[in-house]
Amino acid sequence: MITNTQLEYRGNQFPNAIKSFEQTINNLFFTAENGVVLCVTVLRDSLLRFRFTTEGVFENDFSYAIDEESIHGYNKLEVVDDTYKYTIITNKVKCIINKADMRVGIYDLEGNSILEDELGFHWEENYEYGGNIVKMSKSTVDGESFYGLGDKPTHFNLKGKRVSNWNTDEYAYNTDRDPLYKTVPFYVGLRKGIAYGVFFDNTFRTYFDFCQERRNVTSFWADGGEMNYYFFYGPEMQQVVSVYTDLTGKPELPPLWALGYHQCKWSYYPEAKVRDTAAKFRELQIPCDAIYLDIDYMEGFRCFTWNKNYFPDPKKMVADLMEDGIKTIVIIDPGIKVDPEYSVFQEALENDYFCHRADGPYMRGKVWPGRCYFPDFTNPEVREWWTDLFEELIEDIGVKGVWNDMNEPAVMEVPTKTFPLDVRHDYDGNPCSHRKAHNVYGMQMSRATYEGVKKFAYPKRPFVITRAAYSGTQRFTSFWTGDNVANWEHLWLATVQVQRMCISGMSFVGTDIGGFAEQPTGELYARWIQLGVFHPFCRTHSSGDHGEQEPWSFDEDVLNISRKYIELRYTLLPYLYTAFWRYATEGEPIIKPLVYFDQTDVQTHYRTDEFIFGRKILVCPILEFNVQGRRMYVPRGKWFNYWTDEVVTGGREMWVEAPLHIMPMFIKEGAIIPRYPVQQYVGEKTIDELTLDVYYKLGEEKSLVYEDAQDGYDYTKGRYSIMNFKLIGKKDELVIQQHHEGKFDTDYNDLKFRLHGVPFEITKVFIDNEEVSLKDLTSDSENAIKVNKIFSDIRLVGNK
Ligand code: NOJ
Repeated sequence: MITNTQLEYRGNQFPNAIKSFEQTINNLFFTAENGVVLCVTVLRDSLLRFRFTTEGVFENDFSYAIDEESIHGYNKLEVVDDTYKYTIITNKVKCIINKADMRVGIYDLEGNSILEDELGFHWEENYEYGGNIVKMSKSTVDGESFYGLGDKPTHFNLKGKRVSNWNTDEYAYNTDRDPLYKTVPFYVGLRKGIAYGVFFDNTFRTYFDFCQERRNVTSFWADGGEMNYYFFYGPEMQQVVSVYTDLTGKPELPPLWALGYHQCKWSYYPEAKVRDTAAKFRELQIPCDAIYLDIDYMEGFRCFTWNKNYFPDPKKMVADLMEDGIKTIVIIDPGIKVDPEYSVFQEALENDYFCHRADGPYMRGKVWPGRCYFPDFTNPEVREWWTDLFEELIEDIGVKGVWNDMNEPAVMEVPTKTFPLDVRHDYDGNPCSHRKAHNVYGMQMSRATYEGVKKFAYPKRPFVITRAAYSGTQRFTSFWTGDNVANWEHLWLATVQVQRMCISGMSFVGTDIGGFAEQPTGELYARWIQLGVFHPFCRTHSSGDHGEQEPWSFDEDVLNISRKYIELRYTLLPYLYTAFWRYATEGEPIIKPLVYFDQTDVQTHYRTDEFIFGRKILVCPILEFNVQGRRMYVPRGKWFNYWTDEVVTGGREMWVEAPLHIMPMFIKEGAIIPRYPVQQYVGEKTIDELTLDVYYKLGEEKSLVYEDAQDGYDYTKGRYSIMNFKLIGKKDELVIQQHHEGKFDTDYNDLKFRLHGVPFEITKVFIDNEEVSLKDLTSDSENAIKVNKIFSDIRLVGNK
């Protein structure tokens, strides 16, 4: 418990009485007698920004996180000046600022308290570095829950936890290890049924305490910079996450192949090994779209070079793999080998692109190539140079994607594992030390990489993946969760971390399937593949130190299970792509934790294992060895067991069977799930028929299928196809209505509706009000009907 005396002792200071208020459009300035200024900016009815300065003037307003294209605008902004307080009123919230001490409280229009200052803003002067350690504390009510914060490997509900953000290379981390590779200082609070969000946009080392230090207090603070945070009002989690994602940006659609299965290892070399691996996928008929080359493809680990002993003709190899549908993805690290003969090093040196220490010398550090210097990716000129380095790799050799690693940045053989804090950075014209730039270094590297891949892959879409990130990095790249371990604890972490990333605005994410360090048993690998095919990014990766980790490296059973689940992913590609489209357009998480799915159900607030894939598929991974089933929580509503079509009513825990070849999956009643045929890689087959699995519901349910050319940018010009379906189930009738949007004409003309759970025998079918013969539509082998894709209304009628 911190007492006031302790606070004084620690040098904390607080704003005091407000002496003046000024308004410039949507910026509201409150100045305290001791010089503290609070600027509240109303960005939307549900989005307010709070900035404090103790110096009378604010820092230059610059952020890497905020997307220039984010949408602003509000319907109402009114400020009421009373004796003791100011009240800012929008169409969604009321924000009260106490005149006596500048403390802030935010309420909904019914007066429910959403977020109230406890001590509020306070600070300590930082004599060593200058500036302040800036702090904020909020009061918390019993039963309040907290979610978000990126890749934290801890319980999904953060209540009772203290975490920090400082991008760190953490090989073989374990549960509760903190911090890891990514910095997402954004959390969603759920207070008495109302969701809100806080994004503390400060790139220094930041800390969050969710009622750990004091039972009813949540606080966040930073080693430097400004107290600068955004408040998001829900009341649904969905609105909070979507406005946060709008503010910090959404990705473009990836090429569809990037959602296929990827195979990686440290390392596949020489060329023959890569070719053999690719061939084996085709021989065993396991779908695969990409193979990764880890650091050994380079000459002495020099980025943008090839080891010609291992890869004598990379262009030919890449082209041959491509013939077979396999895209080559290569790793690129930030450390540039100190070698006067190496052109990338020379160019950067000549142009002064490397980071310097405070007193002038270059930032030197050891990584794979030995002694390295590091480009300052926070300098726009350096990013432009880096972008152009991709010309040969992408345009000439034909590599399809780039993997950015070690960009926390990681430095070997030093206790801090990264740059010393005095290293200087440009920070886009706001020069600063590494204290401020550390957490965005990896983001700016992957941004420059994305620009490069995009420039030379155009008119195709780029694919980039990064390990380190800061909020907003989702605009440029996908993610993986770093160096996990082949054990059951990490399988649990995989489901938790991916869910957490998804509600932190970073949905294009996966884990190293099977575990990076050590070797999985066949059973663990099989369970991990089952989970991994439901993660937005799906890649097996391993350190290679402990043996093979391909789907065939175990026994026949594991091989068959792997194939079956990877095939399942390929058949669900149109469903996953639609979920991705919702993420790219509305910021909707591709994977939804149960609390996100139904926040009004308190049973979901502490669930970690189960999640919703897209909008309609409930997945429950098996996270223990040697089990034949497990207990799981099925959210409220009715669900079809995917494997048996049995209908269960949720809102309760239940036992589900799960022998090794089964991972529990349920489909929401009323869902229409689109499916492609199994392909060995995206684009292998022309899709000449789209299957739609229809799950009967008494009542109504909407579904949607988004499609486009699967690559390229035509979709931005309206060349996409959206089928909006509405299912209306009655006792003896099932109606499927369709409303089509977009100018893209799919290859197929026919839709095959496979019917599940229809409780009556269909005797008549009407398409757009005309009766059609049932015989012409159905096949004997399946409970399905086939119709032309152009229709607005299908009516399946039973015996009245
Ligand atoms: C560390 C990365 O996390 C891992 O995925 C990679 O294989 C190694 N570096 C080697 O590049």
